[in-house]
Amino acid sequence: MELIDRHGRVATDLRVSLTDRCNLRCQYCMPAEGLDWLPTEDTLTDDELNRLIRIGVEVLGIRDVRFTGGEPLLRRSLPSIVATTKALPSRPRTAMTSNGLGLKHTAGALAAAGLDRVNISLDTTDPATFERITRRNRLHDVIDGLAAAHEAGLRPVKINAVLLRGINDHEAPDLLRWSMKHEYELRFIEQMPLDAQHGWSREAMVTADETLALLGDHFRLTPLDGRGSAPAEKFLVDDGPHTVGIIGSVTKPFCGDCNRVRLTADGQIMNCLFAREESDLRASMRAGASDVQIAERWAAAMMTKLPGHGIDDPTFLQSDRPMSAIGG
Ligand code: GTP
Ligand code: 5AD
Ligand code: SF4
Repeated sequence: MELIDRHGRVATDLRVSLTDRCNLRCQYCMPAEGLDWLPTEDTLTDDELNRLIRIGVEVLGIRDVRFTGGEPLLRRSLPSIVATTKALPSRPRTAMTSNGLGLKHTAGALAAAGLDRVNISLDTTDPATFERITRRNRLHDVIDGLAAAHEAGLRPVKINAVLLRGINDHEAPDLLRWSMKHEYELRFIEQMPLDAQHGWSREAMVTADETLALLGDHFRLTPLDGRGSAPAEKFLVDDGPHTVGIIGSVTKPFCGDCNRVRLTADGQIMNCLFAREESDLRASMRAGASDVQIAERWAAAMMTKLPGHGIDDPTFLQSDRPMSAIGG
């Protein structure tokens, strides 16, 4: 069985959200007071999670598993979930997208458990700007977390940065210099309409083209081929060897090559980041479905995957499920 949709795209990359909770409050993601977190009974147990990951990998052809959140490090059992995933017979590649808080204490254990690599969110290296964006004074923790990931041999260590007009967009060249100095692979992401407050506007978004222009004043950027299904378009910086990525999710969508499927912390399959329908595998599991029945329901969920994100459609409606409850 494979996870193929009506447009011929095959999902081989599973993004697993381990919790909807987070210890930052990034302004492009959630309000200062946080959100109504999922109740514990609605959240998948470790056994349920491990079972769905096993079905995805061993029955449905998933080859890459990425752990996301909210903040995945807030799930205490993360190293054991990573180890269970990596011990599957087909040994999927494993990665994590995290804000890096506390990673300095866990990077070694995660690498030992079989985590291959990490993508860490960091929008600025200025403490005041960091606090303005995330509403927390924790920049030093993220910087320590990045260093610990590198030290633990997780490779590559990537940085995700969202540029906000008038707040950190002028720092883009500095952030790239800093990332290259530390051997981190920086990518700039266009802000998407996924914030819990529904405050996104096209005018406020710093586009991929704008970001390239901002960087172009300081560096010579040469486009690289071989993007495949990856969201980031990569550019060689000056004469290399470092690169910078631009994730133009809104203005340069990559939906045609999408190979992703998402599992939320409450056991829903989302066939797209912008999906409006979900498929409730938690309910199937708790009703006693067999592995084959779950796999069939999961495969059926891919059939409604839309050809594109539809942000440009006049009828586009932002989903009620915010980014922090999907995992990006
Ligand atoms: P790599 O394999 O390291 O390239 O990972 P990635 O860039 O796919 O993952 P990451 O979790 O670091 O996500 C970076 C940004 O890309 C986030 O803003 C994600 O929301 C966004 N992103 C990831 N997958 C998709 C997708 O399928 N569609 C859209 N529109 N955005 C995505
Ligand atoms: N648009 C684009 N990227 C976002 N992220 C969080 N919210 C948004 C948004 N609205 C980024 C985070 C993290 C990754 C999972 O997605 O910075 O790096
Ligand atoms: Fe947390 Fe990530 Fe949302 Fe920031 S973007 S509040 S780090 S879930």
